[in-house]
Amino acid sequence: MRLKDKIAVVTGGARGLGQAMAELFADEGAKVVAVDMGEAAYEKENVEHYQLNVTDVPACEKFAEYVKEKYGRVDVLVNNAGITRDALTRKMTDDMWNLVLDVNLKGVFNVTRLIGPMMQEAGSGSIINISSIVGEYGNIGQANYAATKAGLYGLSKTWAKEFAMKGAQVRVNTISPGYTMTDILKTVPQDLLDKFAKQTMLNRLGQPEDIAKAALFLASDDASYITGHNLSVNGGMRL
Ligand SMILES: NC(=O)c1ccc[n+]([C@@H]2O[C@H](COP(=O)([O-])OP(=O)(O)OC[C@H]3O[C@@H](n4cnc5c(N)ncnc54)[C@H](O)[C@@H]3O)[C@@H](O)[C@H]2O)c1
Repeated sequence: MRLKDKIAVVTGGARGLGQAMAELFADEGAKVVAVDMGEAAYEKENVEHYQLNVTDVPACEKFAEYVKEKYGRVDVLVNNAGITRDALTRKMTDDMWNLVLDVNLKGVFNVTRLIGPMMQEAGSGSIINISSIVGEYGNIGQANYAATKAGLYGLSKTWAKEFAMKGAQVRVNTISPGYTMTDILKTVPQDLLDKFAKQTMLNRLGQPEDIAKAALFLASDDASYITGHNLSVNGGMRL
């Protein structure tokens, strides 16, 4: 029970990595608020769904007030909601660029500028921003996505300094997953996925639980002296 009695917020929690994290955190004793723009149903009673589009600033403010009112604090925040709109740069439209930046970067800012200060006032907390192997190495056809995921490193290091001011034990880290089997890979052809699997040292793609376990570690007190760090969870892959 590594998150016993902790309050955790996971964005993009309806499916994929977010759902795996929400359920693992709940198994480890947390009360989880799984935020997503889509509908979701959870089997575990200590996971609550809250419908929210992280790009909607007034709705994020309403959400932060709701959490504060209901639980009084947030111990763990995972900014996991993210999207892709892939194209070679010369074919990338303004809409593709803007949408990916709005969700993957501004969405993280919208939620964290409300929850981060709450943690700072409470004196402790763990924020985990879900970046990507694509943020570390870049990738053909993903200029927008790579820019957002690399941007999360700067944001996280800044927040690791800001939210720890005046001695608060607020930790901010990123996880950079490699290719992990979720709906986000639906548009990637199978032969390419097979190639990616062979590019890992472990000869396989990731499973959502692989990432969820890394998030559990960073969320828990086991990582109490780890902040401003990026944890690559990719089976030893290099793009
Ligand atoms: N799966 C991978 O291979 C992989 C690799 C590296 C990084 N990531 C990152 O991990 C995170 C989760 O990815 P996934 O694979 O689980 O994807 P997914 O598409 O399965 O799930 C993403 C979830 O985010 C939600 N979401 C999207 N936009 C939102 C918004 N504006 N507001 C609220 N919720 C929103 C979706 O409804 C969905 O439930 C993303 O940030 C992604 O970039 C994934």
